[in-house]
Amino acid sequence: TLPDLRDTRGRPLRDLRLSVIDQCNFRCPYCMPKESFGPDFPFMSSSERLSFDELARLARSFVSLGVEKIRITGGEPLLRKDLPRLIEHLAAMRTLEGRPLDIALTTNGSLLAARAQSLKDAGLRRVTVSLDSLDETLGGRMNGVGFPVAAILDGIAAAQRVGLAPVKVNTVIERGVNDSQILPLVRHFRHSGVQLRFIEYMDVGGASRWNAAQVLEADAMRAIVAAHYRLVQDGAPQGHGTAELWRHADGAGSIGFISSMSHPFCGSCVRARVAADGKLYLCLFARDGADLRPWLGAGQEAALADRIRALWRARADRYSELRGSMASAPVTRKVVRMSLVGG
Ligand code: GTP
Ligand code: 5AD
Ligand code: SF4
Ligand code: SF4
Repeated sequence: TLPDLRDTRGRPLRDLRLSVIDQCNFRCPYCMPKESFGPDFPFMSSSERLSFDELARLARSFVSLGVEKIRITGGEPLLRKDLPRLIEHLAAMRTLEGRPLDIALTTNGSLLAARAQSLKDAGLRRVTVSLDSLDETLGGRMNGVGFPVAAILDGIAAAQRVGLAPVKVNTVIERGVNDSQILPLVRHFRHSGVQLRFIEYMDVGGASRWNAAQVLEADAMRAIVAAHYRLVQDGAPQGHGTAELWRHADGAGSIGFISSMSHPFCGSCVRARVAADGKLYLCLFARDGADLRPWLGAGQEAALADRIRALWRARADRYSELRGSMASAPVTRKVVRMSLVGG
């Protein structure tokens, strides 16, 4: 049975998003636009990052408090040296509390073809790959560094081949930029076993180019797909997932729509995020994190759990609901940058 830890809005703690590095080899304009994340950007130094021992201790504490899914994020998590060693630590806790633990990874796919097998061998369950375009020119522009789409598709294929399943693909849609890619992506991933998820463009920290006119609402994205393919609703978001699922009526697979702007899902938000330096953020739009590092030493397990429990109990965040759906102006207060908490 799961611990009955609740925040002030009655939400339990179930998902941990663990960022292992705040750097990325891409410069997606909706996350790390080049003009803000240039060569002089003060990324975290390697000495500021938690060690694998500290990350594992942290994860173990979260699992003891009710976490059932750990998602490894970045920046780009595959830039962290020896990542499979951390996965091994995490995979070893699979049966720690006598219940299954889901271990997933979010990646931009650039290094996936080379790493898929070692990640699988280390005990990773599944991956989610970001891909915003099938068109090479547009894709290269959207990842900001001209990285070839074909190599990302190779990464997705490698993940499927080694059984990192189900593979999901995250596509952020910017109206007027890559909405032309909705149908090509849908067509490409039909019958592939890959679950494509379209995400509304959010004004997350770091997204300094965001403007309301570029948000394409999930309902509008779905209408574009439904004009060509018959879709049937597959029920509400599964578990504590964020995506509303629809499936092809002809059995070609399912598609998710993540409507964080138009239909905020704060009411069921069971996610905690920890940055690579050990700061805990209770919301994607939180300004500050609570430093857990002082409790990460050996022998401090009970104190660490107490600390996290107290922070979760006091949690009241529901930013997306409060801002009002489809706000027309970008967030003005300072919020944590997306690349620090991994989405
Ligand atoms: P599964 O474990 O595969 O169900 O993944 P997930 O539903 O947790 O989705 P994933 O981690 O792939 O997140 C997809 C995207 O949804 C993220 O990159 C964010 O853009 C958005 N998202 C995820 N969690 C939140 C959240 O708590 N709040 C908001 N506003 N957006 C979120
Ligand atoms: N809006 C929506 N999603 C975003 N992501 C990054 N920036 C944004 C944004 N501005 C998501 C991408 C990626 C994940 C790591 O974060 O989907 O898959
Ligand atoms: Fe990197 Fe992912 Fe952000 Fe793109 S969305 S810049 S791949 S962390
Ligand atoms: Fe959770 Fe904050 Fe996103 Fe709402 S805005 S769903 S509270 S992370």
